[in-house]
This record gives sequence, structure tokens and C-alpha cells, in this order.
Amino acid sequence: MTRVLKIGGSILTDKSRELTARPEEITRVAKEIASHPDDVVLVHGAGSFGHFPAKKYDLPHEFNRAGLRVTHNCVARLCEKVVEALSLAGVECLPVHPLSCLLLRDGRIDSFFMEPIKEMLKNGIMPVLHGDVAMDAAGKAAIVSGDHLIAYLGKALQAEVVAVGSNVDGVLFSGRPLSRITRKEFSVVQSAIGGSASADVTGGMRGKLLELLDLADLGIDSVIFNAGIEGNIARALKGECVGTRIGRAN
Ligand SMILES: Nc1ncnc2c1ncn2[C@@H]1O[C@H](COP(=O)(O)OP(=O)(O)O)[C@@H](O)[C@H]1O
Ligand SMILES: [Mg+2]
Repeated sequence: MTRVLKIGGSILTDKSRELTARPEEITRVAKEIASHPDDVVLVHGAGSFGHFPAKKYDLPHEFNRAGLRVTHNCVARLCEKVVEALSLAGVECLPVHPLSCLLLRDGRIDSFFMEPIKEMLKNGIMPVLHGDVAMDAAGKAAIVSGDHLIAYLGKALQAEVVAVGSNVDGVLFSGRPLSRITRKEFSVVQSAIGGSASADVTGGMRGKLLELLDLADLGIDSVIFNAGIEGNIARALKGECVGTRIGRAN
């Protein structure tokens, strides 16, 4: 039973400050993941390690070689912190940098060499991916968001749990989290679902939801939950709906 979990950059970093990690939160998140570590693929957001340099170099609108290098190196540094926290919590894990194993076409994943990820899972190692820059066969280079990665992995691995942790209690409508959303409800509430309140070049809640609605179309449900509340990550990994469930319209 494969489980794919995303922890947003909104939890692991201070998105209002460039290159600022939140070490206590990284440690707490790692401990919660360590309570249910089997068959988990972790994706973390880039937070202030990705969105600041991306904005500075105007990625993905401009092709900028130095911008790609700087942005990748920054998100890889955050990944290193996450991997270190997980190993301190007792989880054997390895970083998997999307830049080095996938190719985009027009901003979407076109090919992805996933065999290393599958072998890691078979051998009791948790793969740790992250939002990254990536080469694009049609447009030179672009950004691959953690939200895009999670939906892709959910499908490719036919995951039984797809859990996306952010800093809100789910998809909010009139200030309260919806218990379930499908394309049908989305068309009604979409004007209330926006981008990120902080630095985020990948579409905030709207970007997340669009990816997960695509996944739901394929018959795979997911949950958007608040990973900032202690206990929620462990519950989400157990398959509990601790936020908004994204499903297919009947
Ligand atoms: N209807 C909505 N429900 C929840 N969050 C929303 C909504 N509309 C906009 N948002 C914004 O989306 C943010 C979550 O997306 P984002 O900042 O990209 O988080 P992450 O770093 O976890 O990817 C929320 O913190 C909020 O500011
Ligand atoms: Mg985001």
C-alpha cells in the first residue's frame, strides 16, 4: 500500500523570508512521519527556498541558466534539512531531485525515470522529492511544483493514500473547510479559491486543487489537510480524512 504525502513549504519554511527554514517544524514533521513510515513517498514544497529565487530570476517565464542553478541549489538545501531530520527521527530515506530524473513538456511531466523510487520503496527507503526546476523539452526549462509531483506519483504508483499538508484546514469556503469537493462543487466555489497569500509561484490553493481534481478524474481520491496541527500528519498517513477530501463527481 503506497502512500504519497506532501508537506507544503508553508509549514517547513517561513514563506515571508528568503531562505528561512523552520527547524522545529521540520523536526516535528519528521517525527510524525516516523510514526507511520512504511511505503511512504514524501514530497516537500520549496517554500522560501524556491519561490524567492524563482521570482528573482523570473522563472518559469524567463530562461535563465544561473537562475536554474541557484534555485535548484536552494531547494536541494531544504531537501537536505528534511532528509537529515527524518534520519534523526529514525527513518531511512534518500533525496530524489526531480531536476535529474524527469523531463517536462510545456510545463507538464512528460517522462519520469521512476525506477529508483520503486527500488527504494522495495528496500525500505523513503524517497524524498521536492518542488524543483526542471528542463522542458518544449520551452527549455520550467518549474515542477510539489503539487504536480504528488498528483503524478499518486497516479503512477496507484497510491492508496494521497495526502497534501498545507497551512490551512483544507479548501476553505466562507472561512470553513469543505468536507469534500469534486469538479461539480469546484465550478460553484472556484471564485473563492485563490493563489497563495505568501510567495508561491505555483498557484497556491487553486494550483493544488487543479492538480488533485485531475487525479480524482482518474479515480484516485486525495486529502488536503492542515499539517501545522500536531497529529494530523500521522492521521492522514493512516488514511483518515483530516481536511477536505478531493473526489470524483458521482
Ligand atoms: N479557498 C481557499 N482555501 C484555502 N486556502 C486558500 C484558499 N484560497 C487561497 N488560499 C491560500 O492558499 C494557501 C495554501 O497554498 P500555498 O501557500 O501554496 O501553500 P503550500 O506552501 O502548502 O503549497 C493558503 O495559505 C491560503 O493563503
Ligand atoms: Mg504551494
